[in-house]
Amino acid sequence: MTDKTADTNHPIHASLATRWSPYCFAPTPVSQADLASLFEAARWAASSFNEQPWRFIVGQADAGDGVHRRILKCLVEANQHWAANAPVLVLALTAKRFTKNDKPNGAHQHDLGLAVGNLVVEATTRGLACHQMSGIDADAAAAEFSVPEDVTVLTAIAIGTADTAHVADDDLVARDRGERARKPLSAFVFGAEYGQSADWSR
Ligand SMILES: Cc1cc2nc3c(=O)[nH]c(=O)nc-3n(C[C@H](O)[C@H](O)[C@H](O)COP(=O)(O)O)c2cc1C
Repeated sequence: MTDKTADTNHPIHASLATRWSPYCFAPTPVSQADLASLFEAARWAASSFNEQPWRFIVGQADAGDGVHRRILKCLVEANQHWAANAPVLVLALTAKRFTKNDKPNGAHQHDLGLAVGNLVVEATTRGLACHQMSGIDADAAAAEFSVPEDVTVLTAIAIGTADTAHVADDDLVARDRGERARKPLSAFVFGAEYGQSADWSR
């Protein structure tokens, strides 16, 4: 597993610092126990009114049921190229309305993001890596899996063990060996006014 631990300016938990999004995966399957724990982690995410609007469709390359292949063909071509090697592919969906009153849930995408965040942290603690994708054909995915009209297919996630050893594409290997970059806190944590950096000096 390639180490791309974040070079942080302030200390953060290892489960966050060691997470990164690989393009190269080992062919090793993800165990059923690990996979179940990833979705269990998602299950315990916070959500607006505890609606739990997240939904997932999971395809495992070694399952032989064709779901992995069906998810793969719903990704944009550039993502298909590398995600084909991931042993697990997941579609992440979210229900747009509250079950209790059928009113629009303005936080449904936020809640799905939290659930996926939990899933990704749990994966990292287990030595697994996730690569999330918005590059999908959501309409094709909705048709392929008979998704109801009030549910949005938002993203996909490739899951597996990061490993460049089995990947012949030099460009993908180079991406996985590249530097990681982030904006400074001053670019997005504000104090007195929007755009004015918060003061950390007290
Ligand atoms: C919602 C979301 C959508 C993304 N979509 C894609 C994608 O379609 N294709 C891709 O190669 N990477 C995609 N990424 C991965 C990002 O490019 C990656 O997280 C970012 O460059 C930071 O790198 P790191 O995750 O290794 O820290 C996506 C990430 C997120 C969270």
